[in-house]
Amino acid sequence: MNLEQLVQSAVQEFAGVASLPEHEQLKAQYFGKTGSVTRLMASLAQCDPAERKVLGQQYNQVKQAVEKIVNERKTALEDQVLKSRLAAEAIDVSLPGRGMQKGGIHPITRSWERLVNIFSSMGFSVAEGPEIETDWFNFTALNSPENHPARSMQDTFYLDAKDELGKPLLLRTHTSPMQIRFAKNNPPPIRVIAPGRTYRVDSDATHSPMFHQIEGLWIDKNISFADLKGVYLHFVQAFFAPQAIQIRFRPSYFPFTEPSAEIDILFQEGNLKGRWLEISGAGQVHTSVIRNMGLDPETYTGFAFGSGIERLTMLRYGVDDLRLFYENDLRFLSQFST
Ligand code: PHE
Repeated sequence: MNLEQLVQSAVQEFAGVASLPEHEQLKAQYFGKTGSVTRLMASLAQCDPAERKVLGQQYNQVKQAVEKIVNERKTALEDQVLKSRLAAEAIDVSLPGRGMQKGGIHPITRSWERLVNIFSSMGFSVAEGPEIETDWFNFTALNSPENHPARSMQDTFYLDAKDELGKPLLLRTHTSPMQIRFAKNNPPPIRVIAPGRTYRVDSDATHSPMFHQIEGLWIDKNISFADLKGVYLHFVQAFFAPQAIQIRFRPSYFPFTEPSAEIDILFQEGNLKGRWLEISGAGQVHTSVIRNMGLDPETYTGFAFGSGIERLTMLRYGVDDLRLFYENDLRFLSQFST
């Protein structure tokens, strides 16, 4: 084997190696058990002693020269790997900092708090109830027995788990079950609001499968529709202030109120001016519901209403797509933080 050639081929071959694993393989062809340098050194064993001395020196030089080539190439490849990793992980220290973003209160939470403040100022207490309800509280106790057509307007999500009557548990379709829950644990006079999350199989620009409602309930002796009108008018005027608001009651139907109404509001100014907008269901609490509360309808009467918090919020701020509330886009949300 020509020694000069051996060194030259090492120079060429290692120059062509592009990665550390390739380098490792090629190195074995020189220094592995049957590698060319290894075989060269082993051949010394066959030489006679005089020759061995001279050749040994030469071969050693060749070995060292190849080792140098191998090591230099390895260092160069390692440098390359490090450089590209540093480039990939580079931090541009000249970029402006991200700063500390100040959080804000979500518009729905803002409305929720506003509602609580307004109704508290009128002497209402605040209660919250479970989002997972029984069929009884969500429907039957509210005068909507099984197969009642009003149920089909409130299709919801059912759980595999069943209640003690063997009915599947469900996600409440409205906050009205809180009427019964609260009244069963709190004797009259009852004056309460129950804000919370509600669920229906519904999804478009103005409906979301999860939304928020606020239930209002006032039960006492001699509480009438006139009280509902006074309370609700005061509420919307305080909620939409400083915008001036008018309200009207339109006859409607709910199984748990009699008579029932939809409440519409009218803005006196702004771009919603002149259009009646529906914002609430309401009515005198039905005698069967009063009975399911454990109360005597001959003694106690009162009203209930249920309003959508998203709808109130959309009207207050002029938001036209309810899905914006749930997309967590900071460009939208930051408009509500102060
Ligand atoms: N629960 C009714 C709904 O979600 C609203 C309502 C509440 C109507 C209280 C009357 C009284 O549509």
